[in-house]
Amino acid sequence: MAQIFDRSSNALARASLVLTGLIVIALGVTLDQLQRSPWVTRQGQRPDQPVPFSHKHHVQGLGLQCQYCHVTVEKSSYAGIPPTKTCINCHAQIWTNAQLLEPVRASWATGESVVWTKVHDLPDFVYFSHEIHVNKGLGCATCHGRVDQMPLMYAQNTLQMEWCLDCHRNPAKNLRPTGETYNMAWEKPAEDRPVWCATGDEKTGLPTAESVSCVTKDPSSAGPEVASLQMPLSGARGLAGDVGAAVPAAPAYTKFTSQDELGHFLLSHYKIRTPRELTSCEVCHR
Ligand code: HEC
Ligand code: HEC
Ligand code: HEC
Ligand code: HEC
Ligand code: HEC
Repeated sequence: MAQIFDRSSNALARASLVLTGLIVIALGVTLDQLQRSPWVTRQGQRPDQPVPFSHKHHVQGLGLQCQYCHVTVEKSSYAGIPPTKTCINCHAQIWTNAQLLEPVRASWATGESVVWTKVHDLPDFVYFSHEIHVNKGLGCATCHGRVDQMPLMYAQNTLQMEWCLDCHRNPAKNLRPTGETYNMAWEKPAEDRPVWCATGDEKTGLPTAESVSCVTKDPSSAGPEVASLQMPLSGARGLAGDVGAAVPAAPAYTKFTSQDELGHFLLSHYKIRTPRELTSCEVCHR
C-alpha cells in the first residue's frame, strides 16, 4: 500500500504537537495575566462620573476631612458616599451656575440621589469592614493611596484576595498610630523621623487601640510638666518614697525608629490576631 503520508509529515505532526502545547501554555499565562490586569481589576482607572468631583480640590485645596463626607467610616463596614445635601451646604453659594454641577442641582431639586459609579467594588461573597481596619491602625492612604492628590478618583490597589492576604500575613509592616489614620502624608518611622508611644491604663476598659498614644515630637523635651513628673525616676530613690506616691505616674514613652519595631509594638497593644487566624478562609468568606 502506498504511503499516504511521506516522511516529512511525521516531523510536521510532531512540530504541530509542540506548537499546540505552546499555544495552550501561552493561553494559560495570558488568562492569568488578564485576571490580574487593570482591565479586569479596574485598578488605576477613572470611571466616568456624573460630576467630575475632585478630591484634590476639596481635600488638599479646601482642607476638608474625609469624615466630613464619609461619615460612617469609623463605625460601620461602609465608609458611605455623601448625600447631595453635603454638596449643597457649599454649592448653594459657590459655583451655583456651573454646568459641571447641574446633576447636583437636579438631584437637590428632585430628591433623587446622584448616581456615582463605584470605583471599589468587592464581590458579594467577600466580607469587608472599614470599622475594624480604621480602628486598628490602618490609614486611608494605606489602602486608597494619596486621595488628596487625585483630581479624579481611581483604585490604587487591585482589591484581589492576594492583596488582602499580603497584609493579613504580616500586618505589622502597615500599622500606624490611630491618631494618624487620616494623615495622607504619614511615613514610616526612621532614625531621623522617630515616633514615641506610651500605653495608658489598659484596665480602664477602653478599646485597646485608643489606650495607646503616640507622638512625633520628643515627649521628654515637652516642657517643665513632663520633666518634673519624671524626677522620681532619676536617681533620687532615697527620698522619693513618699513623693513617688503623690505624683501620678508619668506615662513611659518608648522611642521607635523603624516600622518593624513600631509595628510589633502596636500589633501586641492593638491585640491583633495571629497571621494564621487572619488568613483563615472564614474571616473574609462567611
Ligand atoms: C466634599 C466631600 C468629600 C470629601 C471631603 C472626601 N470625599 Fe471621598 N468621595 C466623595 C464623593 C462625592 C465620592 C464619589 C465620587 C468619586 O468616586 O469621585 C467619593 C469617593 C471616594 C472613594 C471611592 C469610592 C468608590 O466608589 O469606591 C474613596 C476611596 C474616597 N472617596 C476616599 C476619601 C478619602 C480618603 C478622603 C479624605 C482624604 C475623602 N474621600 C474625602 C466625597 C468626598
Ligand atoms: C466646604 C465646601 C464645599 C463642599 C462641602 C463641596 N464643595 Fe465642591 N467646591 C467648593 C469650592 C470652594 C470649589 C471651588 C474650588 C476651586 O475652584 O478651587 C468647589 C468646586 C467644585 C467643582 C468644580 C470643579 C473643581 O473641583 O474645581 C465641582 C464639580 C464640585 N465642587 C463638586 C462638589 C460635590 C459633588 C460635592 C459634594 C460631594 C461638593 N463639591 C462639596 C466647595 C465645596
Ligand atoms: C484595609 C484597607 C482599607 C482601608 C484602611 C480603608 N479602606 Fe476604604 N475601601 C476598602 C475596600 C476594600 C473598599 C471596597 C469595599 C466594598 O466594595 O465593599 C473600600 C471602599 C471605600 C469607599 C467606597 C464606599 C464604601 O463604603 O464602600 C470609600 C468612600 C472609602 N473606602 C473611604 C475610606 C476612607 C475615608 C478611609 C480612611 C478613614 C478608608 N476608606 C480606609 C479598603 C480600605
Ligand atoms: C494593610 C493591611 C490590610 C489590608 C490591605 C487588608 N486588611 Fe483586613 N485586617 C487588617 C487588620 C490589621 C485587621 C485587624 C485584625 C485584628 O484585629 O485581629 C483586619 C481585619 C479584617 C477582618 C476581620 C473583621 C472582623 O470583624 O473580624 C476582615 C473580614 C478583613 N480584615 C477583611 C479584609 C479584606 C476582604 C481585605 C481586602 C479587600 C482586607 N481585609 C485588606 C489588615 C488589612
Ligand atoms: C483577607 C481576606 C480573605 C481571606 C482570608 C480569604 N479570601 Fe478568598 N477572596 C478574598 C477576596 C477579596 C476575593 C475577591 C477577589 C477578586 O474580586 O478578584 C476572594 C476570592 C476568592 C475566590 C474566588 C476566586 C478568585 O480567586 O477570585 C475563592 C475560590 C476564594 N477566595 C477562596 C478562599 C479560600 C479557600 C480561602 C482560605 C484559604 C480564602 N479565600 C481566604 C479575600 C479573602
